[in-house]
Amino acid sequence: MNNEVVLRRMTAGDIPGAVEIEQKCFSMPWSEKAFADSLALDYSVFFVASIDEKIVGYVGLYIAYDEGDITNVAVLPEYRRKGIATSLLEKIVIDAKEKNLVAINLEVRKSNKSAIALYEKNGFVDLGHRKNFYEKPTEDAVIMKRQLESR
Ligand code: COA
Repeated sequence: MNNEVVLRRMTAGDIPGAVEIEQKCFSMPWSEKAFADSLALDYSVFFVASIDEKIVGYVGLYIAYDEGDITNVAVLPEYRRKGIATSLLEKIVIDAKEKNLVAINLEVRKSNKSAIALYEKNGFVDLGHRKNFYEKPTEDAVIMKRQLESR
């Protein structure tokens, strides 16, 4: 037990932990199959944060041409406000730059002030809103983007 946060690529063995995070964080959680199918794509990148072998957070990215789209970032409630989501975003940005991507995009619920604050602190800017983008409950999305400075 050293409480060190380890960031590494998600593997099939991490899927149950990732589903547990989904169920604790979202009204429409991804299933084990959704993770397995996404991990198998050659244009997806997933990282997990683990503490003492327990998966406490994850981030996912889909690559389309020279830009990335964040699928989600989530951290178990009891591990929040410790910089874990920030570390996951930094990790995915480093990986995206290594892949020569020029920008990262994402959508976030308009009411999700904590996530919007996280993204703004990590260099994402608000590009506008998409009406009724989300279900359960129906809500607008804020579209955000971070340009990646060339290496
Ligand atoms: N209220 C206000 N600001 C918040 C916040 C909150 N509840 N949580 C994070 N932030 C902002 C702060 O500026 C924070 O910096 P600070 O702690 O120095 O003030 C900064 O984001 C970095 O926070 P960090 O500790 O890296 O984030 P985290 O590990 O707690 O994870 C989320 C943040 C959003 C991923 C986490 O709350 C979560 O999993 N939420 C549920 C899932 C979700 O909504 N994901 C986003 C979907 S688009």
